[in-house]
Amino acid sequence: MARNVIIDCDTGLDDAVALLLALRSSELNVLGITCVNGNVGLDKVVYNTLRVVEQSGKQVPVYAGATSALMVDADENASKVHGSDGLGGIPLPAPKHSVENEHAIDFIVRTFMEAKEPMDWITIGPLTNAALALRKEPRIEEKIRLLTMMAGGLDSGNTRPMAEFNVFADPDAARIVFDSAMPKMMVPLDPLFLGGYLKWSDQQKIKAASDKLWCNLAGKIFDVTHELVHKMGRKQVTEEGAVSPPDLLAVAAAIDPSIMEIENYQIHVETRGEFTRGMTVVDRRKYQRGEAYPGRKEVAVVIDADQQKYASLVLNTWLA
Ligand code: BDR
Repeated sequence: MARNVIIDCDTGLDDAVALLLALRSSELNVLGITCVNGNVGLDKVVYNTLRVVEQSGKQVPVYAGATSALMVDADENASKVHGSDGLGGIPLPAPKHSVENEHAIDFIVRTFMEAKEPMDWITIGPLTNAALALRKEPRIEEKIRLLTMMAGGLDSGNTRPMAEFNVFADPDAARIVFDSAMPKMMVPLDPLFLGGYLKWSDQQKIKAASDKLWCNLAGKIFDVTHELVHKMGRKQVTEEGAVSPPDLLAVAAAIDPSIMEIENYQIHVETRGEFTRGMTVVDRRKYQRGEAYPGRKEVAVVIDADQQKYASLVLNTWLA
């Protein structure tokens, strides 16, 4: 039976393909999508999310959440990676549906509190909405089967040497979420440089199915991603022609964690460091691991993905 889930996003190019995977997956039943300020401002995020949902062929309510970080807004968004509109200028029809009147935080709290069984939660943007929901109603923690987050990095960051964008954009919120006791899985940047990518040939199969709205959009997103990556002069870390959308990997991990290599660690979020603000400090010590913080819950960290199984999951879901 499909698992009920709420997805929190800051739609962006990789959020868009991630939403398309979640919405087309028979494993997930997306009850609602909540939007947060992040890759671009909240208004653009909401507009993009509404347009992307309509390209999925499914109808799911979209809610607007936080307009800024909890304490200090990061001094940059991610528009150089996603384009100033957040979707790389890809022309899409204006949405037919509107954003819901209920605030995202109220929707999150209400939905978890009313759930008969613990549910899934996926966050693919900064953790502001998640932190606010936890502060508003801490009892939601007991209603969460697993929170899967695209967040952080083990070896390095992307926005700063040690800070990944979703954590850097709101480290105080990230800290509240990482400090909570609910079961968590973190999908950091690291597996994107290993098996967490889609080959050029995988992308061509998706593009060839452009009669399906979601494949058509995903194909365009891959094209634009190649252009933007080229413009930024980024070097190809995995194989030539591959794409590694971070949020897509997070949704794939939420759908089927068995195709991921996972290790468990205590993780702390650095909120004040001069050079390390937004860093996820992962306790990977060989001997004293966990000793300083007895009882602190470990986070399941995705270290790597089985590339072929990951690609099959995406292809089978979209081409079905
Ligand atoms: C994350 O930051 C954003 O730019 C992407 O949407 C993804 O969630 C990667 O660091």
